[in-house]
Amino acid sequence: MSDFNQRIIAPSLLAADWSKLGAECQRALDAGADWLHLDVMDGHFVQNISYGPQFIKTVRKVAPEAYLDVHLMITRPDHYLQDYLDCGANNITVHVEADHDVANTLARIRAAGRSAGLAFNPATPLAEVAPFLDQLDLLLAMTVVPGFGGQSFMENEVMPKVKAAAATRHERALNFHIEVDGGINGTTAPCAARHGANVFVAGTGVFRADDMGVAISKLRRA
Ligand code: DX5
Ligand code: ZN
Repeated sequence: MSDFNQRIIAPSLLAADWSKLGAECQRALDAGADWLHLDVMDGHFVQNISYGPQFIKTVRKVAPEAYLDVHLMITRPDHYLQDYLDCGANNITVHVEADHDVANTLARIRAAGRSAGLAFNPATPLAEVAPFLDQLDLLLAMTVVPGFGGQSFMENEVMPKVKAAAATRHERALNFHIEVDGGINGTTAPCAARHGANVFVAGTGVFRADDMGVAISKLRRA
């Protein structure tokens, strides 16, 4: 069961210095991160390639207790799901736009005892994910077009959908986190919080901050 009143900060390792991955994971956790957000990109679903199961296994090894929030920006999440379950992912988020049976993929993630997340892109209407809201633990509203860190927060396109998702959750007495991801920092997080988000992914906003602890506490207070 998700406690969607809980504020959760999930730094994205896409923006970390991978040459010292262990130290970067520890730095984020010591600075107050609740989760570590891991962006898997296949170069097909998004125009970039990041990393795969081996990288996540390494994170699990250097941060054995961390909550790993795996974001699969891949065309066939169903085909590769077992690899990410085997890495020890705590949450696995798949995209509604990808080429799979969404309900079946979400059910498989839950059957493995993990948190099931569903992501939708800025251009994707909330109606596309509405049929699955009672089958997930986390709804990820992308606040940038996925594929790269360091992009700008897309307020007008996405905040109305976050607000509507929170309203639907209340009306239907559902229970899922609302996560926002892309361009989230001390300036944009308050807007996302006002509309109903409670999980904040930040890559550059945290890993490139002068003081990571200050950056994370700003997100927590947003
Ligand atoms: C983008 C990824 C995001 C990205 C966030 O496709 O899903 O998690 O790493 O990076 P920032 O916070 O720099 O926008
Ligand atoms: Zn992400």
